[in-house]
Amino acid sequence: MDKLRITGGRPLEGEIRISGAKNAALPILCAALLTAKPLTLTNVPALRDVSTMAKLLGEMGLSVKRSPERTVLHAPSIEDPTASYDLVKTMRASVLVLGPLLARCGRAKVSLPGGCAIGARPVDQHVTGLEAMGATIAIEHGYMHATAERLRGARIVMDLVTVTGTENLMMAAALAEGETLIENAAREPEVVDLARCLTAMGAKIQGAGSPVIRITGVRTLGGAEHRVVPDRIETGTYLAAAAATGGKVRLTGAVPDALDATLDKLREAGATVATTGDSIELQMSGRPTAVSLRTAPYPGFATDMQAQFMALATVAHGTAVITETIFENRFMHALEMQRLGADIRLEGNTAIVNGVARLQGARVMATDLRASAGLVIAGLVAEGETVVDRVYQLDRGYEALENKLSALGARVERVRSGLL
Ligand code: EPZ
Repeated sequence: MDKLRITGGRPLEGEIRISGAKNAALPILCAALLTAKPLTLTNVPALRDVSTMAKLLGEMGLSVKRSPERTVLHAPSIEDPTASYDLVKTMRASVLVLGPLLARCGRAKVSLPGGCAIGARPVDQHVTGLEAMGATIAIEHGYMHATAERLRGARIVMDLVTVTGTENLMMAAALAEGETLIENAAREPEVVDLARCLTAMGAKIQGAGSPVIRITGVRTLGGAEHRVVPDRIETGTYLAAAAATGGKVRLTGAVPDALDATLDKLREAGATVATTGDSIELQMSGRPTAVSLRTAPYPGFATDMQAQFMALATVAHGTAVITETIFENRFMHALEMQRLGADIRLEGNTAIVNGVARLQGARVMATDLRASAGLVIAGLVAEGETVVDRVYQLDRGYEALENKLSALGARVERVRSGLL
């Protein structure tokens, strides 16, 4: 497996452009299942997960034409509404085909995603919501077999805030008979971007971005053109890397408003942050100050930024208390950061990080996407060489990571498997 070799100890400096958001692109690609007309998307990031989703949709009979400028999806008909285990096991977001397939075809066979490195991650809220809309869902041999003559509107109060759960039900409700209310809905910007795309296709949606989303179903949806929103987690990752290395960067093509909680914490850590239009400038002089945080659904502090801020805390002045409330097993990176000399104590869903003056390079293992981003930041700060194993985790969610880091002056290179 490819590895990333990082020689740390140099502040990041310069300007890069932010890519489209993985967690908006994935549900929006699934929205193409809802219409017989072409859906044209721009700003789709070139990521491993996007390729997996394109493959999954292609297996159902969709035509997916991708170029750097645009991705055109067309599903005049859906031959086989099935999402196989082989693909679903590589990417949980595949469950996002369930709602659209049920709404469009009246049937779907979707593999259960199974366990994940960061937590159990059940899909019970997706299933309960679709059943409330009249679907019958049987679990057989590891697959969800779902049928529904035509979904009908319902009032659905989610037991907890779930991003893809909200997205799945919103897509299903777009073609259902009557009105659906989703309460305790996720408010993430990616949910809003999906609603924007569905509305461009002719859906009737109100309240996306608030805890209550109202969808009035229509008989059919049309085609549309949609630009995927920039990636707030990619943005936050580069900002945290700049802050941890004592650098000065400018990120363009971003959405500063979607990053309030992250920017507030960076300012608390001592960074100077300025936003103008779609760009964010950050400068950190000297060592950061320890910042404690608690992850929460949007607009709270994103769990997908937790590992990156732990890396920042490892070299900060003082002690940071980091509490993870979304996923029950999202501290794998802490054990790897200890290999670089970090002082981290884990107590249940809380990590106590005592900042140290310096980290030393070492070999580390990436366990999941955001954990690997945290390890890359720790490697950029550490003295000497760090080798991050299992880079494919990073390729799932960061477009051209080593090119962008090199453009900011980092010494980083990809080492093909077997060469180290
Ligand atoms: C989305 O995952 C993101 N993925 C995740 O990003 C992100 O970490 C997460 O939201 C939280 O912000 C995509 O958008 C593709 P949830 P999702 O359902 O929707 C529990 C990344 O790094 N739950 O909001 O799968 C669940 O176990 C990825 O880009 C149920 O119990 O997350 C978790 O504890 C990682 N039953 C909590 O809710 C359900 O039916 C929130 O999960 C659904 C979820």
